[in-house]
Amino acid sequence: MTAQIIDGNALSRQVRADVATRAASLTARGITPGLAVILVGENPASQVYVRNKVKACADAGLHSVLERYDADLSEAALLDRIAALNADPAIHGILVQLPLPRHIDDHKVIEAISPAKDVDGFHIASAGALMVGEVGFKACTPYGCMKMLESIGMANLRGKHAVVIGRSNIVGKPMAMMLLAANATVTVCHSGTADLGVFTRQADIVVAAVGKRNVLTADMVKPGAVVIDVGMNRNDEGKLCGDVDYAGVSTVAGWITPVPGGVGPMTITMLLVNTLEAAERLLPA
Ligand code: GUN
Repeated sequence: MTAQIIDGNALSRQVRADVATRAASLTARGITPGLAVILVGENPASQVYVRNKVKACADAGLHSVLERYDADLSEAALLDRIAALNADPAIHGILVQLPLPRHIDDHKVIEAISPAKDVDGFHIASAGALMVGEVGFKACTPYGCMKMLESIGMANLRGKHAVVIGRSNIVGKPMAMMLLAANATVTVCHSGTADLGVFTRQADIVVAAVGKRNVLTADMVKPGAVVIDVGMNRNDEGKLCGDVDYAGVSTVAGWITPVPGGVGPMTITMLLVNTLEAAERLLPA
């Protein structure tokens, strides 16, 4: 079997076109959705990510501001900026790019963001809302993975077994919650799981989010399964690659997401969706 590709670039274009239409209609009503992106320090990967986020906003007709601070910014000064953005009516979403410098407590910073503007979905209120099925904001990467499943007709996962590899607060845990909400049976594994293949071979859907190459190989995949690769690694030649042995797994899986061009663009797309929704929620019902 040769797996069909779930094209994150193509799906992103579709979803972003819808965001642009909805943003234009909000703008016509006097509300332009606005995102504030905060970057502290000079992390090279973070600089690329924030630039892409700001560009994506402009392309979809969203207002955005990028605030860049030196790595020695104090925690108190960052918390002050967040308080000001919480109160700023032109800003509907606030994103603080992680990782932060070591002297700043990530958790404290995330919790300072108003839950109504938590478009990254990392606030305890957002995680709690997801857990109990209330309205909040879904973390962008797992939300993008769910959109990818939806795009191949897998919105309702009743009767399907999904295995998530990875248990981070950013991907693994919210991913498991979203799969459960879609009625899947969910197993959460991680880099320390003994004999990972025992679990993955039973899975109709595997989501790999470990941050290590070749975590999932062909012998670990059930024929026809859907494989979603959240990994972002470099191979020996310095080229971008995921957690999945793409060449091998493609011969067994039914569907697979490539790296690059898979989950990556969907993460930014769902950030736009969340920012738009944050603004839409301000409209009278
Ligand atoms: N760093 C890596 N991924 C993310 C993300 O999705 N949001 C933020 N804020 N920082 C990140």
